[in-house]
Amino acid sequence: MNNRGEWSSKLGFILAASGSAIGLGNIWRFPYITGSNGGGAFVLIYLLCVFIVAFPVMIVELTIGRKAKRNPVGAFKAIAPNSKWWIIGAMGVMAGFGILSYYSVVAGWTIAYIVKGVTGGLTASHLDPAAIFNSFASNGFLQIFYLFLFSALTVFVVIGGVKNGIEKAAKILLPLLFVLMLLLIGYVLTLPGAMDGLKFYLVPDFSKVNSHTILMAMGQAFFSLSLGMGAMITYGSYLPDDDDLFSSALYVTFFDTLIAILAGFIIFPALGGAPTKAGPSLVFVVLVDVFRKIPFGGVIAVVFFVLMAIAALTSTVSLLEVVTSYLIDEKGISRKKAAIGAGIVIALLGIPSALSLGANKFFTKIGFLDKMDFVFGNIFLTFGGLMMCLFVAYKWGLECFFEHLSEGCDHVGKPHFNRWLQIAIYFICPLAIAILLLYILLTGETLG
Ligand code: PHE
Repeated sequence: MNNRGEWSSKLGFILAASGSAIGLGNIWRFPYITGSNGGGAFVLIYLLCVFIVAFPVMIVELTIGRKAKRNPVGAFKAIAPNSKWWIIGAMGVMAGFGILSYYSVVAGWTIAYIVKGVTGGLTASHLDPAAIFNSFASNGFLQIFYLFLFSALTVFVVIGGVKNGIEKAAKILLPLLFVLMLLLIGYVLTLPGAMDGLKFYLVPDFSKVNSHTILMAMGQAFFSLSLGMGAMITYGSYLPDDDDLFSSALYVTFFDTLIAILAGFIIFPALGGAPTKAGPSLVFVVLVDVFRKIPFGGVIAVVFFVLMAIAALTSTVSLLEVVTSYLIDEKGISRKKAAIGAGIVIALLGIPSALSLGANKFFTKIGFLDKMDFVFGNIFLTFGGLMMCLFVAYKWGLECFFEHLSEGCDHVGKPHFNRWLQIAIYFICPLAIAILLLYILLTGETLG
């Protein structure tokens, strides 16, 4: 398996995996869900979910991947031969197809908005942001064009391979993202309503918290950390055996959470309070409306959408890499053919989503994009996360799991750490995720 590729360094891995985690989930979804779930109180609950439930699952995925050095399907086959556990990996690959298809549609919007911003079609004072969004969303040709454009970008990076494609892109793009975010935060904090926005964001209002809020937070944590579908198994499979998986998982979790929190520092001060509308419109309509009214708004808008496009690209790359690594490992297809072939199929699969915002009556009526998000972005991820914990606890065995995790990991062997991780994997995570899953299935609620 030597020709599978490996990250060039720990930093390379941390940046690539953080790139997967940091995406539209952080910059678009997190602020919007925070907005509709009580602001500061939701942020606190989100943090608890991230570190109590999601972080152990991240360690589980990375450990499975590094042990097996395979794609998600091959990984379960290698660790538990002659069993049916590989189906969990197969569901992960399917989730890769599914999520990427609709995610690339929204990612494509960011490119369209950069183009609109640069050509002056976004923030001029006589334009109405809602009308701009609606006419763009219902233009089938443009929707498909940008879907394919973004898919092509994703394929281009994945063809470059682990070191020269994915890692290189992340090394350039993530620091750029961080700097752009800091610049934007510095700017929006000077706006008149900034303090009201911050108050909403940071002062918890527990009267808005209920069981629904907690489950929203957990669903968001899974989606945001790219858990439950094998992205972290795949990225973990390119890690050398002596890497300290605990610290790697901690860095990725930390950076992802940091960027989500920072995104709130852009959106809420800019909005000057609680958002009035949710969904796609928060960024593409409400925020554009803000950019229209502030000095240098045209430039700021372009910077913002560049930032979003960057975040989205490093995530789409990881989604395509799950599918590509499966085709390389299991089907013996070359990286180039696998990435291009999968990219085309996924983009075609994205067409109904692209047409579901007004361009096509039928797909709009059934809300195709939302449905895809519900099935793949919620059900598949949570179910996958649950099964991975059960796999480690009851099939692979915690002893073997710890044995592999301990290679290169200083923390393993320390009784407190082991005890905590054991309890998390045996009870806390499966229980919490099972409740979440039941909730989603019973209510049909799209979380996060
Ligand atoms: N974590 C990504 C985001 O927040 C989305 C994603 C989910 C990427 C699952 C890979 C796997 O946007």
